[in-house]
Amino acid sequence: MCGIVGYVGGRPALSIVLDGLRRLEYRGYDSAGVAVVDNSTVLTEKKAGKLANLEKALAERTGDNIASGSTAIGHTRWATHGGPTDRNAHPHLSADGRVAVIHNGIIENFSRLRAELESTGIEFASDTDTECAAHLLAAEMRALRDSGGLSGPQLLAEAMRRTVRRLEGAFTLLAIDVDVPDAVVAARRNSPLVVGRGQGENFLASDVSAFIEHTREAIELGQDQVVLITPAGIEITGFDGEVAEGKEFHIDWDSKAAEKGGYDYFMLKEIAEQPQAIADTLLGRLSERGEIVLDEVRLTDQDLRDIDKVFIVACGTSYHAGMVAKYAIEHWTRIPCEVELASEFRYRDPILDRSTLVITISQSGETMDTLMALRHAKEQKARVLAICNTNGSTIPRESDAVLYTHGGPEIAVASTKAFLTQLVACYLIGLHLAQIRGVMYADEVAAVVEKLQSTPDSLRLLLDRMEDVRALARDLKTASTVLFIGRHVGYPVALEGALKLKELAYMHAEGFAAGELKHGPISLIDEGTPVVCVVPSPAGRGVLRDKVVSNIQEVRARGARTIVIAEEGDENVKAYADHLITVPSTPTLLAPLMTTVPLQILACEIAAARGLDVDQPRNLAKSVTVE
Ligand code: F6R
Repeated sequence: MCGIVGYVGGRPALSIVLDGLRRLEYRGYDSAGVAVVDNSTVLTEKKAGKLANLEKALAERTGDNIASGSTAIGHTRWATHGGPTDRNAHPHLSADGRVAVIHNGIIENFSRLRAELESTGIEFASDTDTECAAHLLAAEMRALRDSGGLSGPQLLAEAMRRTVRRLEGAFTLLAIDVDVPDAVVAARRNSPLVVGRGQGENFLASDVSAFIEHTREAIELGQDQVVLITPAGIEITGFDGEVAEGKEFHIDWDSKAAEKGGYDYFMLKEIAEQPQAIADTLLGRLSERGEIVLDEVRLTDQDLRDIDKVFIVACGTSYHAGMVAKYAIEHWTRIPCEVELASEFRYRDPILDRSTLVITISQSGETMDTLMALRHAKEQKARVLAICNTNGSTIPRESDAVLYTHGGPEIAVASTKAFLTQLVACYLIGLHLAQIRGVMYADEVAAVVEKLQSTPDSLRLLLDRMEDVRALARDLKTASTVLFIGRHVGYPVALEGALKLKELAYMHAEGFAAGELKHGPISLIDEGTPVVCVVPSPAGRGVLRDKVVSNIQEVRARGARTIVIAEEGDENVKAYADHLITVPSTPTLLAPLMTTVPLQILACEIAAARGLDVDQPRNLAKSVTVE
């Protein structure tokens, strides 16, 4: 997600903030900007693209003191609302130019707020949700000043509290104001923010790596807190103004470890970010009336009613997300849905027309195979909807409609959080289609969404008890082959587990539909061959679960060592498991959000135990832009 830095103290703030942004570059971003308070003006510079573009623009500036002001905020943006352009880059200024704001997260009620602000005559200078916060904050500053009483930093803090009480969603906001030159105010709800405590200077950042060169004393803010930093101190309150405390800690990581949030690899950090990534992708998608809201999907309800077949087209891990989606979309909508490898799709001359919906799934939005499949679908007049994690990339740009996953940048080559957020996006599209076509009622849709909304908490519990998986990984590191089996949505999970192991640990691994084993692959099983078995929930689809248990017995009888992923409470399965990994109970169609995670960790830890480069496996690139 976006990188955020704030500084107040005795030194020139711009270079400190730029240095902090450079240290946050590893997070990935599409534009960057800074704002500095100097002599009763707020000076800003922002540019799409790399930090170097911003630095060049700053170097070319003459006639102002942007380099010498001692209060500044800086931002690297990962676009959500509004494409990655200069005008959408942060900071955003209030209409009177007195307040500058930077933001990480999503303001869910921004359309309502924007309409309200526009009705008072304010003209927006960007397409972002953030700009609302700048205008609201400036209005609160004016109102507080007019009513007398507060002044200086306290006035700024109170204006921020009033502003954030009006915002819904997840956000970290940082703001500066021309009339309060020695303060930066920030607010946090469901989005990260840490404070760095210096001597006569203080820092704010989305993670400690931004200020680790200056101080190692930090404070983690709690939920719904506002923090005011001045050279002299740090004051924390709740959104209601009650004095509050953050969690003080000493940073003993080096700067490389700090970038990875203390994890050994980006991949582990990204696996740990999955609960938040799912929550962010779900944010604001369910209306008060229980309807799925997909603002970015610009197809009309009638367009969606006219669809008589769906194709999902993607590569690699994204293709596995599509395979899961097929089960959900067909079950909920009763529309036939096919999943195709993008590299095969256009070469087999698929039958497409205006009533076909082609859904492309791509983390990067640049995968050439998927892009070519999309272009082919458009030539055939099909409607194309992209599920993508990278705002402004080519695939969403060329599609009729887009649903962005809000997973944040993925640094590790192996896809993890992108996969889970792609699943969430696919579920939302399935539910939306079902609702619009009258196949599901609002209360049925809301019941599924409620289950989806509870998955981040379940996932946190699961992630807290992965020690056994780590131990198992050390045990499996010398295996010559590992097989994965599953049925129904467990089948794509088996494929995904095998793909992760191949790409990271360079081991032979293969996934199979459990029922297919007896048609050939079972002869691969030898004494001690590890077989990872993904068992469906005993509730809901008990028949499926029993069938997989029979398949486990078949492989065990031939000497396999079984590693069983099953739902908590499925006691009977223990008898067939050499290693049992349990996951929280989830409705069958949503189960991949749980069952995939131990397989991600298994692959990552096996690769680490084999001494391999987990984040950058050999021969692979994060974005595959050739066919
Ligand atoms: C595997 C992996 C790849 C990608 C595939 C598609 O961990 O990352 O298989 O899923 O190259 O990439 P996107 O989703 O960017 O189109």
